Amino acid sequence: MPLVYLNGELVEEADAKISVFDHGLVTGDGVFESVVVRRGRPFALRRHLARLGRSAAAIGLEAPPSQELAAAVEDVVAAAGFEFGKIRLTVTGGLGPLGSGRAKSCPTVVVAVEQLAEPSPSVAVVVVPWARNDKGALSGAKTISYAENVVALAYAREKGAEEALFLNTAGELCEGSGTNVFLGIEGELVTPPLSAGCLAGVTRSLVMESVAVTERRLPRRELERAEELFLTSTTRGVHPVREIDGRPLSWPGPLTSQAARAFGALIRAGQA
Ligand SMILES: Cc1ncc(COP(=O)(O)O)c(C=O)c1O
Repeated sequence: MPLVYLNGELVEEADAKISVFDHGLVTGDGVFESVVVRRGRPFALRRHLARLGRSAAAIGLEAPPSQELAAAVEDVVAAAGFEFGKIRLTVTGGLGPLGSGRAKSCPTVVVAVEQLAEPSPSVAVVVVPWARNDKGALSGAKTISYAENVVALAYAREKGAEEALFLNTAGELCEGSGTNVFLGIEGELVTPPLSAGCLAGVTRSLVMESVAVTERRLPRRELERAEELFLTSTTRGVHPVREIDGRPLSWPGPLTSQAARAFGALIRAGQA
């Protein structure tokens, strides 16, 4: 088993124990990042650490300095020796009461890694019946309160799909349970703006810096007009969608292929 970083130490997984009073466990009070390991190296680590800092600030948590977290990630990755994997970096509110009020305590910091299988060539998605709360206190922050995503993904899987798409409270396309969404409509690549309530995905930004993308609000009917769709995330990269709500799509469409090529070039250059 790979070693785990816990509060300043590299330990065996069996010794990586946190208290039942940890506020992350009790209330979901914490933030996290998933960072992909490609060719044995963490990809786009600087961007992930910057987002972790923003997420922590958004919910009023004090995360350790980025250099400290980066060193912890490097140590865990070096010890694991995986070529392709997923690092999970979690910072919680630390010890607290068995309720919502925070105590003044040190954060709990965990870095864990697991090996990844290559993503499937395409994915089927469904729109879930629950809204993403674009007006909530946690909107745009990558917090560990993920039960809504767990429920949505279970719903998608029951319908034979592999990812769940959320609309926001205005009925506009927002994001997937763990992905951002891009649509090809009449030759134009479009994606919801951050103000629609989606996470500022690292992969989303890299794609937007590499190919022409228009950010605009996308009411549900735009999903029905889309000729092609793809998802982005750290572990999936650019992931073509073959079916939405049972409607087959051409995949990979030309805009998806272009984005995948541009993203592939970034990976090969190791520059993000
Ligand atoms: C809710 C949500 N949206 C979007 C994303 C994609 O972000 P990234 O490209 O940084 O992985 C994630 C990934 O973790 C996510 O959890």
